Amino acid sequence: MDVKNGLGVPQETLDAEVKSFFESAPPLQNRDDISGKLEEFVERNSAVSGNGRGRRVVCVTSGGTTVPLEQRCVRYIDNFSSGHRGAASTENFIKAGYAVIFLYRRGTYQPYCRSLPEDPLVECFEITDESNIQVRQSHAEAVKKAITEHHAAVAEGHLLKLPFTTIFEYLQMLQMIGVSMSRLGANAMFYLAAAVSDFYVPWKNMAEHKIQSASGPLDMRLVQVPKMLSVLRKDWAPLAFCISFKLETDAKILLEKADVALKKNKMHMVVANELSNRNEEVVVVTANEKISVRRDKTQVGDDVENHLIRLLVERHSAYLENPDDL
Ligand code: PMT
Repeated sequence: MDVKNGLGVPQETLDAEVKSFFESAPPLQNRDDISGKLEEFVERNSAVSGNGRGRRVVCVTSGGTTVPLEQRCVRYIDNFSSGHRGAASTENFIKAGYAVIFLYRRGTYQPYCRSLPEDPLVECFEITDESNIQVRQSHAEAVKKAITEHHAAVAEGHLLKLPFTTIFEYLQMLQMIGVSMSRLGANAMFYLAAAVSDFYVPWKNMAEHKIQSASGPLDMRLVQVPKMLSVLRKDWAPLAFCISFKLETDAKILLEKADVALKKNKMHMVVANELSNRNEEVVVVTANEKISVRRDKTQVGDDVENHLIRLLVERHSAYLENPDDL
């Protein structure tokens, strides 16, 4: 039977593409370690509290995935994302009482460390005499904030950080998180801010060793990455509240593309942003509304995420009361 899903692709074809992606991906190196940490984190935060419910848990994805071109990788294709959105959002979710699984690209912005300089070790510290190292006064406040707030979030069990680099690592980890969080029902939220590769080279088609430039121009076929958002909604965590992002450089097509993504992937909300002003304004697209959310320029240090996360938390509360209304 040719069952079509919202993606306009026969369901059987999508299932086969997803299966093939996971079967051909190189297995995660530290799968057991990740699985143990995840189970413990979700279990701890699902314990019922005074309000008769467990803590709300959000998976925040952040940074761009890479697509390796060689198995012993020297070259790769990258997706742009500094990780600032994901890091700032994580801080706001924790402030709002959520526990956060921060699935992030190695080397991108980290929660509570956004105001540190690029090379904190050499810029924030100085050696006073042979055996003493101290924080430079100019950076003392930022270092204190980073250490105390970060340690508190981890120690209280409200922050679990899981790093990825490649599209293979990212999607395998997202699947593990989705399945693990499904037991939280509607208390689970996915906030998918990562910039995810649309095309990849299947592992079995990939050159093992460094591709030689002496062989002339490179002719390489990239395969489409299956749209996992619909799989997340349908199979991994069907009751979770799901927010995806839409990034464009052409403002004229942005909202239309966000609308299509909302319907196609059955998201609860899509956050539309334009590359050049993504830190100033985003538009939250739902089935019935388009809500503009802006940074308050009159407030020093204000971020668009402060306002965005407040709105999403309100909508998640409404969803918990009435899951069918959205
Ligand atoms: O990190 P910053 O520098 O602060 O910038 C933030 C941001 C611009 C990266 C962020 O706000 C953003 O827009 N992230 C999504 C960028 C993106 O890749 O958009 P997309 O149209 O390619 O993908 C749409 C959604 O589908 C995303 O939620 C993505 O996580 C998801 N996706 C995409 C492809 C794929 N194969 N699987 C997916 O899950």
